[in-house]
Amino acid sequence: MASEKTIVFITGANSGIGLETVLALSQASPDFHILLGARSIERGEKALSEIRSSAAAHPGGPLKGTISVIQIDVSDEASIRAAASRIESDYGKLDALINNAGIVVTRPGCDTLTNLRETFETNVFGPMLLTEVLEPLLKKSNKTPYIIHVSSGLGSVGLRLDPDDQYKGVRAEAYRMSKAAMNMMAACHGYNYRAEGLGWKVCAFNPGYCVTNLTGAEDRENRTQKGARPARDPAEALVEIVQGKRDGDLAMSGIVDLDGGVLPW
Ligand SMILES: NC(=O)c1ccc[n+]([C@@H]2O[C@H](COP(=O)([O-])OP(=O)(O)OC[C@H]3O[C@@H](n4cnc5c(N)ncnc54)[C@H](OP(=O)(O)O)[C@@H]3O)[C@@H](O)[C@H]2O)c1
Repeated sequence: MASEKTIVFITGANSGIGLETVLALSQASPDFHILLGARSIERGEKALSEIRSSAAAHPGGPLKGTISVIQIDVSDEASIRAAASRIESDYGKLDALINNAGIVVTRPGCDTLTNLRETFETNVFGPMLLTEVLEPLLKKSNKTPYIIHVSSGLGSVGLRLDPDDQYKGVRAEAYRMSKAAMNMMAACHGYNYRAEGLGWKVCAFNPGYCVTNLTGAEDRENRTQKGARPARDPAEALVEIVQGKRDGDLAMSGIVDLDGGVLPW
């Protein structure tokens, strides 16, 4: 029988924005059951035990919603299908999917094709397949399903062409291209589910420039010095989206921004 709780699945949730979102969702309501997706079960369990031990001291208060760890490597089709089977057998449905796992290839000397292939495998192909495989479970939701693709302002074609954009000096072509593809994926999902007569809420989301491990743990200090924000900021915005408080922004055309409104595609 389908669970009465709101089941939210977050990929790449043992670190950074994903982990903060697990924490913020659990603090927001006892009605959530959060599936903390991690490609390494050990890293997932470690992250969960850390937030369990620190949550009481966090301004957001104690954990109310329940959390379990689920293995998911979005670059591995078998792992994607196994995660879907487990969600089906344990909960019988899914209410919200946050495609958050993502990478930037920072290895020195990585050639262009390798960089593009690795980046697209994780940032585009995995989320596309995962969403497709989870569709039958989202159809079993007794609520309005949410599909949130964690993208980036760096994937905005409009901002790339804006001579005043604050991140104009960041090249990162493979990453930018992958997030632009993710944005089109969000647009296609939104269109397809509307055409099917489903009221699902779909968006591409910009979490802003945050202090996380995205460009390596050793780069966190550099991010902090450059004014990057705490991962708690996009986490709180993601909670609002899942709670339906940002539906007005989701109805607009563009990348839903953490601070409200949208960025240009
Ligand atoms: N931080 C920013 O400034 C920023 C800005 C714009 C957009 N974003 C986006 O925000 C999302 C979250 O990134 P973050 O900043 O929180 O970085 P992070 O701390 O590095 O977290 C990324 C997460 O993705 C996981 N991951 C990587 N490859 C995976 C795979 N193949 N399968 C499953 N999980 C995988 C990582 O797992 P491991 O720990 O095992 O590596 C980690 O849990 C990404 O999509 C990123 O592009 C971030």
